[in-house]
Amino acid sequence: MITGKYPNLRLRRSRKYAWSRRLVQENSLSYSDFILPIFLIEGKNKKESIKTMPNVFRYSIDRLYSVVNKAVKKGIPMVALFPYTNPKYKNQNGSEALNPNNLVCKGIKFIKKKFGNKIGIMCDVALDPYTSHGHDGLLKNKKILNDETLEILTKQAILQAKMGCDVIAPSDMMDGRIGKIRKALDKNNLNDVQILSYAVKFSSSFYGPFRDAVGSKKLLKGDKETYQMDFRNSDESLREVSLDIKEGADMIMVKPGMPYLDIIKKVKDTFKIPVFAYQVSGEYSLIMNGINKKLIDKKSIKESLISFKRAGASCIVTYFADQIDL
Ligand code: PBG
Repeated sequence: MITGKYPNLRLRRSRKYAWSRRLVQENSLSYSDFILPIFLIEGKNKKESIKTMPNVFRYSIDRLYSVVNKAVKKGIPMVALFPYTNPKYKNQNGSEALNPNNLVCKGIKFIKKKFGNKIGIMCDVALDPYTSHGHDGLLKNKKILNDETLEILTKQAILQAKMGCDVIAPSDMMDGRIGKIRKALDKNNLNDVQILSYAVKFSSSFYGPFRDAVGSKKLLKGDKETYQMDFRNSDESLREVSLDIKEGADMIMVKPGMPYLDIIKKVKDTFKIPVFAYQVSGEYSLIMNGINKKLIDKKSIKESLISFKRAGASCIVTYFADQIDL
């Protein structure tokens, strides 16, 4: 390492003025760095607040235009759609996931019709917004079935892709799903559709507000520890990622974000592939509550987002995407 010595070297010299600090800046944020998650709800003209997520809303499809339009205008490259499914459509098998008229399908069609390819759409592949037990897979005798779940997830992915979803994002953490989905997409002439694998998804308490937002929190039986990763582990994330690359993932996600910056860096340094980060609901709400209670300044938002860039993330899924002014 080449370095100097005080008093010849005074690092404060470059910090003296704003222009000078800007010249030596190593990382920056632009709207291209963001993916905006959007929660959908049935009904007309609805903009419903979410108790656990200040300033985040559930929108009915007819209210989507202005939300997506704002994102397009800002230059945000992609939105991620999540449904709040009416409990009466939920069941053991999450069969609503395969309904071509479900909220996500309607959302995809609406956005594609209004905005074409001006903005990308990504959709989760997982059953938790649709199951009566709140799990991402099929539940039998207190176990989450792997291979049986893959069958339905593959169908869900194909359906979303046929509706016009650009980026299929399996967030279920079943083994083998990327390969199976890639194969099925190709077989259906959907070889252009990208796969963003939530390869490194930890079993985390930071998902709490999201589960509230999609209405699965009260339903969830037990926890997700038999399929999501143990947060004590680091090397295991490399095994997850290497599997998913071999199976055909175009990019991978690390989730949650801020408590796992070490993992983002490790995956990026090891594989040199696009690594996306998810600043999840619990991280969002902690910061928002801190700002609202005047415990921390609003500038903490940018500071939190830059940390992902420093760690090597290509972009960040964040609920701040449409609130932040750069
Ligand atoms: C479910 C899913 C979760 C999130 C995105 N997709 C929650 C979970 O696994 O329980 C969390 C996102 C957030 O907390 O913002 N497949």
